[in-house]
Amino acid sequence: MHTIDAHSHARIKEVLVRHIDLNLTVNFSTKSLKGFAKLTIENSAKADTLYLDTRDLVIEKVTSDTHENNSFKLGKEQPFIGSELAISISPETRSVTVFYHTQPNAAALQWLEPAQTAGGKEPFLFTQSQAVLARTWIPLQDSPSVRFTYTASIQVPAGLMAVMSAANDTAIHTDGIYNFSMPQPIPSYLMALAVGNFQFHAYDERCGVFAEPVTLDKAAAEFSDIPAMIKAAEELYGKYAWGRYDVLVLPPSFPFGGMENPRITFATPTILAGDKSLVSLIAHELAHSWSGNLVTNATWNDFWLNEGFTVYFESRIMEKLYGKPFSDMMDVLSKSELDETLNELGPDNHDTQLKLELNGRDPDDGMTDIAYEKGRFFLLMLEREVGRERWDAFVNNYFASHAFQSISTEKFLEYLDANLLNKDSALKARLKIHEWIYSPGLPSNCPVVESEELKNVVAESKEFMNGKEASELQVKNWTTHHWLSFLRNLPSPLPLEKMKNLDQIFHFTNSPNSEVLAQWLLLSIESGYDAADTSIEKFLTTFGRRKFVKTLFAALIKTTAGKEKAKKIYAKARPTYHSVTAVTIDEILN
Ligand code: BES
Ligand code: ZN
Repeated sequence: MHTIDAHSHARIKEVLVRHIDLNLTVNFSTKSLKGFAKLTIENSAKADTLYLDTRDLVIEKVTSDTHENNSFKLGKEQPFIGSELAISISPETRSVTVFYHTQPNAAALQWLEPAQTAGGKEPFLFTQSQAVLARTWIPLQDSPSVRFTYTASIQVPAGLMAVMSAANDTAIHTDGIYNFSMPQPIPSYLMALAVGNFQFHAYDERCGVFAEPVTLDKAAAEFSDIPAMIKAAEELYGKYAWGRYDVLVLPPSFPFGGMENPRITFATPTILAGDKSLVSLIAHELAHSWSGNLVTNATWNDFWLNEGFTVYFESRIMEKLYGKPFSDMMDVLSKSELDETLNELGPDNHDTQLKLELNGRDPDDGMTDIAYEKGRFFLLMLEREVGRERWDAFVNNYFASHAFQSISTEKFLEYLDANLLNKDSALKARLKIHEWIYSPGLPSNCPVVESEELKNVVAESKEFMNGKEASELQVKNWTTHHWLSFLRNLPSPLPLEKMKNLDQIFHFTNSPNSEVLAQWLLLSIESGYDAADTSIEKFLTTFGRRKFVKTLFAALIKTTAGKEKAKKIYAKARPTYHSVTAVTIDEILN
């Protein structure tokens, strides 16, 4: 075995890709990117072969600074990880240029018809490279343990704009040619491109938002706390390292809430609630600029290092911006999500370890809430044990000393041991460090989180179950998080009379808030509340955000009638979903 990362064919002990120059033409009618990637390599082992990752790429030819034509061989296609591309090189070879084009089924890419955008007039293309999909649009060493800088020249149809995870212009180029440069080294899963009709709104010299013209005002208002978020993040854990920070609002089929592409977070439009109530997602993606993008998980088995640190950091940003009662509510809601996930996966499930065992599997399968929420509570436990002041100093040093590096769980534990726990093995045992990381389930020293606000909410949901009318509930000043907690605390299935009563008073079936609506639709399915059917179909055929869509389909198929509904809706919805969502729903329905 020459690879360290089981999800990559790269042999990084022999050759390292240090820089990539991309040159691609975007063709919406053939749904293809075509051009070349010139890879600058460091061949310390004097190897005679460069091994790259590819999946569904058509390789046309390979040249290099030492050869007019390099012979190459595409290996057998393997599930999830694709085909190894073996290129003959000589020890002196310094750059290798791969001419290629992508196929319409490239899993990272979603090619949208104009009708699938907010404006409805222009097509849209976006990429989603995490975890192992960068190889479906660029031949490269697709492992988070490899970092490279890049430039790109992207040709798009006239009138459209292109942005990448790099330095971006904010205006349309009439010739359709966009040049990018990313001077800071990044791992492959952060390669990103979007092409469409969008415009830019600046908040200040270093941050702003891109969105389709019809969405721009709404997005600009919703995200106007971004400058304050950056300031709060910097006060917590050090200077922002990437120059600009912008957000791009994607069409509703975007399969995630957000994706932390460096310098330009990609975000779902489902967080445009109109009242800033869902902007913690932006704080999350911003926090990745430290945890994930600056200090990166070495393999997908170490995914909690990215996400656990990020939700912890996100909560600290929210506390600073919106106060402790607010972040307490978020923490309590997270704990209930964690308990639910642990319940679903079962007490002995190895996927409930922080250190994952994803080798031989689609990394996407094991990347659950555990990395996020169990990871966050592990870090919160450490914070409470040593005190915030010492903990924050430690985290600052951790980011600073590992900037632009990839790190494994084991290296992190060594660093923790040396720099926070003073190699005190009794302390380590008392904190159950090993159990947190390598055992399934939740250790007994998981921190307790409480929210006064949500205690009142729980009391109201009890009253409602004891016969109080919906119109009598004390809901004054309730926010999105109160409502989410209220709905989650109701028993499911809920008697139809009670569903009707709630809907009459609070109009949940038509809620403009995607989180509240998704929660209500789930309860509707579980309760057999047919009045929500139209709303369910509309939701599933409009939004492709996997978290929502997956939960609703999984609930639907639990009854025979629901299964029929699910199949009918999916026949319509599937063509509008990104592959990431479609793959997950295919599994649920088959
Ligand atoms: N990096 C993730 C999204 C991701 C994870 C893509 C794994 C592919 C594989 C992103 O930062 C994320 O966590 N998004 C969440 C946001 C939430 C936790 C605030 C999402 O999309 O729901
Ligand atoms: Zn994240």
